[in-house]
Amino acid sequence: MGRSRRLTRVLPAIVLVLAAGCSTKTQPTFEYMPDMSYGPRLAAQNEDPNRPGEPVMRMPVEGTVPRGFVPYRYRAVDSLLAQAELTNPLPRSAEVLARGQKIYMTYCVVCHGETGDGQGYIVPKFPMPPSLYSDKVRGWNDGRIFHVITRGQNLMPSYASQILPEDRWAAIHYVRVLQRAAHPAPGDVTP
Ligand code: HEC
Repeated sequence: MGRSRRLTRVLPAIVLVLAAGCSTKTQPTFEYMPDMSYGPRLAAQNEDPNRPGEPVMRMPVEGTVPRGFVPYRYRAVDSLLAQAELTNPLPRSAEVLARGQKIYMTYCVVCHGETGDGQGYIVPKFPMPPSLYSDKVRGWNDGRIFHVITRGQNLMPSYASQILPEDRWAAIHYVRVLQRAAHPAPGDVTP
């Protein structure tokens, strides 16, 4: 097939594509398979036509919780109660520690630092957070630390909406690792 012959075959297609691209109309004259473009869609924030004055998006029924969700029963001031009643449900396994390290290095490290000394990346722009291997925190049980992560404490905000409860417990196991690294037991260090 000669070159000019090939061109006469392809040319109409090129012209057609160019013509379609140059159209000045805002509405296409022909829609190929509009499918569900114009379905009767309700936007979540709009008024619900079936319930005048109410948005389409509905609030959960009052007094209910999502399936599998266990509400946190302790108020911010109930730290001693949390300390007395809560225990870490997770074993100190390699898997849990790896998860805890991931959580710590994602959420806590920016303030408390890689070793837990309170020298995170955003310090001193953020006032220096306390060490996590102080005698004070080493003396706390896991429930008390869980309470701080869940409810926050003074300048430290609550991480309840960002970290799942089981991930909080795992992070606490990792905080214990940091404490042990800062205060090794006699058998931990070989001379
Ligand atoms: C935005 C910075 C910030 C982040 C992120 C943060 N903390 Fe804190 N944390 C603080 C500050 C500041 C305090 C001291 C609050 C106070 O003055 O009582 C604190 C206090 C604590 C305490 C109590 C220490 C004490 O001596 O009273 C614990 C335990 C703790 N944080 C653990 C964590 C863990 C675990 C994470 C990650 C899940 C975390 N924090 C994330 C800033 C932070």
